[in-house]
Amino acid sequence: MMKIDRVSMTFNQGTPDENQALNNVSLDVHDGDFVTVIGSNGAGKTTLYNAIAGTYTPTEGRIFIRDIDVTRTPEFKRSRYIGRIFQNPLLGTAGKMSLEDNMVICHKKGYKSLKISLNNKLREYFRSRLRELDMGLENRLKDNVELFSGGQRQALTLLMAVLSEPAILLLDEHTAALDPRNAEIVMNLTEKFAKEYKLTVMMITHNMQHALQYGNRLLMMDSGQIVLDIDSEEKSQLTIDGVVQRFRDIKKKELANDQLLLHV
Ligand SMILES: Nc1ncnc2c1ncn2[C@@H]1O[C@H](COP(=O)(O)OP(=O)(O)O)[C@@H](O)[C@H]1O
Ligand SMILES: [Mg+2]
Repeated sequence: MMKIDRVSMTFNQGTPDENQALNNVSLDVHDGDFVTVIGSNGAGKTTLYNAIAGTYTPTEGRIFIRDIDVTRTPEFKRSRYIGRIFQNPLLGTAGKMSLEDNMVICHKKGYKSLKISLNNKLREYFRSRLRELDMGLENRLKDNVELFSGGQRQALTLLMAVLSEPAILLLDEHTAALDPRNAEIVMNLTEKFAKEYKLTVMMITHNMQHALQYGNRLLMMDSGQIVLDIDSEEKSQLTIDGVVQRFRDIKKKELANDQLLLHV
């Protein structure tokens, strides 16, 4: 489904600010995988998404989506295959436009060459999809999206991403800016849509409980590398304390290696 092959990303190469954000990362994501991704700030999680989405071209390595090498495909061309949701609920929808106009834009993404005009049949389709959110938005097609709450906007962003049928959906702490109740609502919708539409999902989260509860695979990133890749069976046994312990073990090993090197 998606293959990341020895990808490195170095910012400001050859300057005093040189920073290797990704260090030789390889990853195979399979069709229907729901991968949760954890790691401290600066670990390289968002940079990995930027490489997948084409926001940045990796310094080294290749990226394949559905067996197509997209390493150098521009971001706007890749966006047909990639759904991406950010932490900020205002980024995914256009606040000054009505709900129905926002939905037309996402609908068009799938049918680029066709001229789509809004008619009652399309409105009925939008309403039926919006009903799945269970937020009453199906009755607010003419309202500007800026009138909606953060939770409603993020739920809408999620629905629009799903309807554009991405090969992979990249969630970057998409519930972190919401209050706990809305975060739960959006997480429940995420899980529901993932199952219903058989999505392939990667979800960065700082919420350990969410990282363990959702998905069939858990990745931990640190210093630009994937340091843990835990599959479904092992994940179901894992506790938050267990994850923390695994992280400590890895860090200790690193320290031990550094110390060894220093003593040579
Ligand atoms: N556009 C950029 N220019 C320079 N450095 C960057 C850029 N984007 C990210 N970085 C650096 O790359 C490292 C990884 O960042 P990031 O991928 O955002 O981490 P995470 O999402 O795991 O918190 C950090 O040290 C960050 O400062
Ligand atoms: Mg980030």
